[in-house]
Amino acid sequence: MYTQALDVPDSTPAAPQAVPWVAGPAEAALQERFDLKIDADQKIEPQDWMPQAYRRTLVRQISQHAHSEIIGMQPEGNWISRAPSLKRKAILLAKVQDEGGHGLYLYSAAETLGTSRDQLLDGLHTGKAKYSSIFNYPTLTWADVGVIGWLVDGAAIMNQVPICRCSYGPYARAMIRICKEESFHQRQGFESLMTMMKGTEGQRAMVQEAVNRWWWPVLAMFGPPDADSPNSAQGMRWGIKRISNDALRQKFVDATVPQAAIMGVTLPDSELRWNEERQQHDYGAIDWDEFWATVNGNGPCNKERLATRVKAHTDGQWVRDAALTYAAKQKARALKEAA
Ligand SMILES: [Fe+2]
Ligand SMILES: [Fe+2]
Repeated sequence: MYTQALDVPDSTPAAPQAVPWVAGPAEAALQERFDLKIDADQKIEPQDWMPQAYRRTLVRQISQHAHSEIIGMQPEGNWISRAPSLKRKAILLAKVQDEGGHGLYLYSAAETLGTSRDQLLDGLHTGKAKYSSIFNYPTLTWADVGVIGWLVDGAAIMNQVPICRCSYGPYARAMIRICKEESFHQRQGFESLMTMMKGTEGQRAMVQEAVNRWWWPVLAMFGPPDADSPNSAQGMRWGIKRISNDALRQKFVDATVPQAAIMGVTLPDSELRWNEERQQHDYGAIDWDEFWATVNGNGPCNKERLATRVKAHTDGQWVRDAALTYAAKQKARALKEAA
């Protein structure tokens, strides 16, 4: 899933460089060629020269995105064994596997920038790297699974479609496939909730209660207001970010309000109303203190999510060892046969 303006600062600043970088005439020419490519909307590829800050920003954003995908497997994975029917279980299994796949494409894209998978995972496992705040909220009922598909994946699509046009080639190409799969995730969530809304009074109440809990954290997924996002302008200049946080949030609200009406649920915001003059919806204030507390490790499930991830990684050590041993054996055999 999910960039949440996914370029919030990680906990540790970039390591100091042994040799400070000083721009000379050669770098100036390279910089000029880079700027021309960006202005012409051409893709930057891994072998191309790029400014260090561009590379660093991309590594941070793509790895935060990858971490979000794999941490995002947890809240829903939690419900695979309790899905109410074989059909729902098969859909949920496929969705959670998709999220794992999204993480893998994105780690691969980040690796093309010269940072190893081990370094990226180490950042996540030691709590230095961030991931989307939304996955630190619990999934208390089956309706939460549908609401995640409808709203969380829906917000993710809004955020991620513009990244298909990102200036960095490997990231843009990974996003094209990811967005197609996110679209299925959103639809299955909506369909699951619609089914519940046609069910019993208790089922309808369960959907409404889940919507009430997820609505505000989902709006916060788009990241801090534009006025508080000092790096956004640079991201726009580099063609990494195409649409501002507030503009994406507004598009999401405008798209979701009619869907909620079709579904028959109320969005928990007394200030939500159509503004005839702006031709957009007005909505209430987001609790940014809660957002930052969650991003910085103090949300309802941060500790649990990280501990589960670290345990999964540790438990999988034998698989990595076996794969490396097998690869070494194959290589030795190939060398012997070639000799
Ligand atoms: Fe995803
Ligand atoms: Fe998804």
